[in-house]
Amino acid sequence: MKISVIGTGYVGLVTGVCFADLGNDVICMDIDKEKIEKLSKGIPVIYEPGLEELLKRNLKEKRIKFTTSMKETVEDSEIIFIAVGTPPDENGEPDMRAIWNVAKQIAQYINGHKIIINKSTVPVGSAERVYKIIKENLTNNHEFDIISNPEFLREGSAVYDFMNPDRIVIGGSEERAIEKVKELYQPLDAPILITDVKSAELIKYASNAYLATRISFINEIATFCEATGADVELVAKGMGLDKRIGPHFLNAGIGFGGSCFPKDTLGLVTTAKKFGVECSIVKSTIEVNNQQRIKFFEKIYNYFNKELKDKTFGIWGLAFKPDTDDMRESPSIEIINLLLEKGAKVKVFDPAAIENAKKIWKEKIEYTSGMYEVCENSDALIILTEWNEFKQADLKRVHNLLKTPVIFDGRNIFGAKKLRSKGFDYFGIGIKQ
Ligand code: UGA
Repeated sequence: MKISVIGTGYVGLVTGVCFADLGNDVICMDIDKEKIEKLSKGIPVIYEPGLEELLKRNLKEKRIKFTTSMKETVEDSEIIFIAVGTPPDENGEPDMRAIWNVAKQIAQYINGHKIIINKSTVPVGSAERVYKIIKENLTNNHEFDIISNPEFLREGSAVYDFMNPDRIVIGGSEERAIEKVKELYQPLDAPILITDVKSAELIKYASNAYLATRISFINEIATFCEATGADVELVAKGMGLDKRIGPHFLNAGIGFGGSCFPKDTLGLVTTAKKFGVECSIVKSTIEVNNQQRIKFFEKIYNYFNKELKDKTFGIWGLAFKPDTDDMRESPSIEIINLLLEKGAKVKVFDPAAIENAKKIWKEKIEYTSGMYEVCENSDALIILTEWNEFKQADLKRVHNLLKTPVIFDGRNIFGAKKLRSKGFDYFGIGIKQ
C-alpha cells in the first residue's frame, strides 16, 4: 500500500520503517530538514535497538523515503498517518497545535480518497476536530475518512513492539476505511479491536494511566515495606502470581519518566476535568510519582547527615529507562539537581544518554565514558537506570574504587543480601534499610 507518516519522532519513525519492512511504499515527512537529511542517509537520529538496520535495508530497497514536502506526502499516498508530538503545555494539557496545523495542511493537498489515521496520543474528541478542520479547509470535493489507531510501542523495544503488538485498535465509523487499515495490519497477526473513534482515543490514555498507576501503587507499597521490614520484591512477586493481577509493571523504583506516562497521566486528569470528571486515582498516581524521587534523594541526604558540600557522587544511568538515550522527564534529572543544589559534585555514566545529558547540565557535572570511572574516589554510587551492563558489574572493583563502599540503588538491580555480604552499605527501594 502507499502510505505516509507525518512526524518522525519515536512513534512516527518506527511506524514508517516497520510498514516499509512489511512491503509497503512509505513516505516519512517532517518539518525538521536536518533530521530528514540524516534519515535519508540511513542515520536513525534516535537510539532504538534494531532500527538502524531496518532503516538502511528499506532505504536500499527503495521502500521508504524521507521528505519535508507536505504536498508530496499527501498527494502520493492513500493512507496518511499523523504522528506528531502532543507535549504538555503550561497547564498540563496536551498541546494540540501541531496536529491541528497538520490537518489544515493535509486538506490543501487532498487529490483523491484518503484515509487519515491519527497515531499520536490525543484527548478524546480530537479525531472529530481533525475531521472538521480538514472539511473546512478542503479545496475540492474529494472524500476522506478519519481513523484513530493508537500506538502502544515502548521506547527501547519499539521495533519489536510494533511488529509484535498485543492488540491493534482501529477506531472509526466508515467500513471502507476500517477494512483497508485492517488489511494494512494483516501481516502482524495480532488481535484487532474495532471501536468507535472516541473509545480508541480513550483506550490509549486509559492504558498508559493504568500502567503508571500500577507503578505508583507498588512504589507506595515499597514505602510501606521500608517502614515495616517487608521486601517489596517478594510482595510484588506474590501479588503477580495471581492471574488477575499478573507480574508486569510492578517493579518498584524511583518512579516513571519518559515522554508518555508523565504527560498522559496529566493529560487524562486535565481533559477529564473539562468534561466535569475528577480522576482522583490518576491524580494520586502523579503525586506518588513526584514524591518517589524526593524520597530517594532524602535517603542519600540523611545518610550523609544532611551535609553534601564536600561529597562526590558517581551515577550509573541517566535515561528514563534502559536501551534508550531519551532523558525526557527522567527521574535522574530531579535527583541530580537536588544533589547539585546541596553543593555535591556529580560524575555520571550512561551507555547512551550522555550527549542528551550534556544539553541539560553542560559544565555543571562531570561526564565519564565508563561505569568504573564514575566510582573512582566517589563517596557513594547511585544507580538511576537499570542498564543490563550494570547488573554484571565487578563488585569487588567497585568496592575498591569507591571512597566509601555505599550504594543507593534506585532500581533494585542488586540483592541487598548479596551486596551487604560483600561489605557495602546498600540502600534499595522497598527493602529493609
Ligand atoms: C509507555 C507504554 O508502556 C507504551 O505502551 C506506550 O506506547 C508509550 O508509553 C507511549 O505512550 O508512547 P515508554 O514510556 O516507552 O512506554 O516506557 P515504559 O517501558 O512503559 O516505562 C515508562 C517508565 O516507567 C520508565 O521510567 C520505567 O522505568 C518506569 N517503570 C516501568 C517502573 O518504574 N516500573 C515498572 O515496573 C515499569
